[in-house]
Amino acid sequence: MKIIEAQDYGDLSLKAAQYVIAKVKEKSNIVLGLATGSTPEGTYKEIIRDFNDHHTSYRYVRSVNLDEYVGLSKDHPNSYHTYMFENLFRHLDLPEDQRFLPDGNAEDLEDECRRYDRLIQSLGGVDLQLLGIGQNGHIGFNEPGTTFDQRTHTVALTRSTRKANARFFNSINEVPAHALTMGIRSILDSKEILLLASGKSKAEAIDRLLRNQKIDQDFPASSLHKHSNVIIIADRDALSIAD
Ligand code: F6R
Repeated sequence: MKIIEAQDYGDLSLKAAQYVIAKVKEKSNIVLGLATGSTPEGTYKEIIRDFNDHHTSYRYVRSVNLDEYVGLSKDHPNSYHTYMFENLFRHLDLPEDQRFLPDGNAEDLEDECRRYDRLIQSLGGVDLQLLGIGQNGHIGFNEPGTTFDQRTHTVALTRSTRKANARFFNSINEVPAHALTMGIRSILDSKEILLLASGKSKAEAIDRLLRNQKIDQDFPASSLHKHSNVIIIADRDALSIAD
């Protein structure tokens, strides 16, 4: 695990964007694994800024997202489809038929999970997976206790995750109770992983991740110790306990 320390959120966003942009320049048809949430918003802004100023092209890039809520339509303001469209896709030249998210509204969710796994496989796997981290150590929506041998699957969101995500909804009751997520196995299948962590609220999780190499199902991010190519970009606040 390689740790890159950023001064603050702005610096983290710039460093992460520069990393992604360099990879896109290296391999124009790269398969990017993308995340939602607050953490990557600044990274996406920097990617967009670079696209506008320096015209890095995403024409041949393929993207697959980590997760999507169950039961929200694609055009719901809080769906991850909408998040990705608003925060990234609509600003780039990444063709619509090359960007993928699981369909949380599929009639048969189990079929949808298998379809998503096949899709990722047909793209040749994820080259670079972007991750955030939950305060409880979740990655994607793999909550504590999830087995590490699953690919895409349906999960029941914990109350703490629903509470953390309630800030995007009118109340916690509106936050869907379930989501589709790539599993730990899918995440570990990616060739390279870039985990971003910002702010004091992530300090305990980052400390736990860095303090020891113990792989523990109750702390999903610890599965990353099994991967040989993980980079963590964290700002000072997120590193404040680990330091
Ligand atoms: C998002 C995702 C989640 C978030 C995590 C942190 O696609 O899979 O694991 O990365 O909940 O969220 P933020 O960045 O909002 O603190």
